[in-house]
Amino acid sequence: MRIILHIWRQKDANDKGRMTRYEAPNVSEHMSFLEMLDVLNEDLIAKGEEPVAFDHDCREGICGMCGAMVNGVAHGPVAETTLCQLHMRNFKDGDELYVEPWRARAFPVVKDLVVDRSALDRIIAAGGYISVSTGSAPDGNAILVDKDHADRSMDAAACIGCGACVAMCPNASASLFTAAKIAHLGLLPQGQPEREERAVAMVSQANQELFGSCTNIGECEAVCPKGIKLEVIARMNRDYLTANIAGRAGLKAD
Ligand code: SF4
Ligand code: FES
Repeated sequence: MRIILHIWRQKDANDKGRMTRYEAPNVSEHMSFLEMLDVLNEDLIAKGEEPVAFDHDCREGICGMCGAMVNGVAHGPVAETTLCQLHMRNFKDGDELYVEPWRARAFPVVKDLVVDRSALDRIIAAGGYISVSTGSAPDGNAILVDKDHADRSMDAAACIGCGACVAMCPNASASLFTAAKIAHLGLLPQGQPEREERAVAMVSQANQELFGSCTNIGECEAVCPKGIKLEVIARMNRDYLTANIAGRAGLKAD
């Protein structure tokens, strides 16, 4: 099938950028979206033009590297599907697709569709861990975790850090990402000692990175390729508020 592409081209962070129109005349319905871009790039290279820069790694929906807005929707039109897992069979002959990078002040464009998402790494570094002297591996049943908590923690841990939630949010909020990282630790017994401290540190870091605040719009949940639910944000807010109301010593909330 023939697909018309309008792709955001931007040399670097200082370039103003612009949409450029391309035609992809021989797109197979079996191609993934990224494979379609690969073919486009081969054509561009053959013509001596600069290929389109885009992020990717695993191409199987687990690493969080890929992502772009397709016709205004993060990761495109199929629910719970990363861009690398989106197949061209979801489009039809003659479709026009507008492909843009994630838009958020905290995600500066590096080149074309590639953005710098290291702000998310800094949120993790602020508290997304459990501080323990691990010693040798403990016995598997030494700390019991009930099924409900284990399941909800695993669901939150499915977040791959792609940043689609930020890109789709009108406030460019990283709340779904931050809350998922807080929830997967805070739901387990091992995560309890630092639970409030973790929430305050990670939320404060998200604010410093200039992500917006959550106003319960829910676009993040709608586009999240891993089905992370808004309820994790409620958990994060509760931990953050509890810490502040209690005025826990050593916690710095802003
Ligand atoms: S919460 Fe979902 S959309 Fe946001 S970074 Fe994690 S996987 Fe991506
Ligand atoms: S390339 Fe790894 S999730 Fe898409």
